[in-house]
Order: sequence, then structure tokens, then C-alpha cells
Amino acid sequence: MNIIIVNGPNLNLLGEREPKIYGSESLSEINLWIENHEACTNLNLEFFQSNSEGSIIDFIHSKRKDVDYLIINPGALTHYSYALRDAIISTQFKAIEVHLSDIHDRENFRKISVIKSVCLAQFYGEGKHGYITAIKHILEQE
Ligand code: DQA
Repeated sequence: MNIIIVNGPNLNLLGEREPKIYGSESLSEINLWIENHEACTNLNLEFFQSNSEGSIIDFIHSKRKDVDYLIINPGALTHYSYALRDAIISTQFKAIEVHLSDIHDRENFRKISVIKSVCLAQFYGEGKHGYITAIKHILEQE
């Protein structure tokens, strides 16, 4: 199964960025941990991060024919990017939304996700474990 794991703006600064909220591990450490997790045996994972909405959309488009699932933490794009929402529904693959922090227990603007309704599920507040929860959710679908 081919799965892409996409992280959006500012997630390249994980480890440095608000560590009390997002933890002390870098994105590459988290990606390596995901790749080596037992839940990911036999899965083809590809990781992508960008601070640019357009680059994320271009990446999603480029994978639209050969990917089964998208796991996405869109960062702040979650809360306002209808362009990202449209990109997700323009593809053949299913998407799962992940957030490291508990977006429902922070500022009000973070409670809104414009992509939630085009995703199979939304996981939040589990730190890096949320990505594995998303993978387990995918495996349950198959
Ligand atoms: C985030 C939550 C968003 O509100 C925020 O803008 C992020 C990270 C999370 O993983 O908790 O950049 O998606």
C-alpha cells in the first residue's frame, strides 16, 4: 500500500517550535520513528513537508494516480485552506487528518478544520503517535 505523509507550514521547525505544545523531537526524527514502527511493515511510505500551500497542492496532484492514502497534518492551513480541501477531493485517494496538539483545547480558530469533512478521520492531541493511529485506522479499512 502506498501512503504519503504530508506536513504543512512550520512543521519543519518541530523540536524548536513551541516545544511545550509540539514536543522536542524534530520532524526528521518523527518521520524516522514512523518509518521504523512495526505498524508500518509492508507499507510504502513517502514523506513530504512544505511551508507553501501551492507546493503541498502540487505534491498531492503529482501523487494522485499512484497513492492509496494521504495522511496530512496541514498545520495552520487546516483552518482556512479551501484550496487544500479542493485538492484532497480532486484525487482518488482517501485522506486522514492528524494534529500533534489538541486543536479542540486551544484558541477558537484552531477548532475549525476546513478539511475535516473530506477526510476519513481526524486525530489530534496524541503527539507523534497520531500518525500511527492514522496508519492503524487505514489498516482497519483494508
Ligand atoms: C497543528 C495545529 C495547528 O493549529 C497549527 O497551526 C500547527 C500544528 C498540530 O499539529 O497540532 O501548525 O497542526
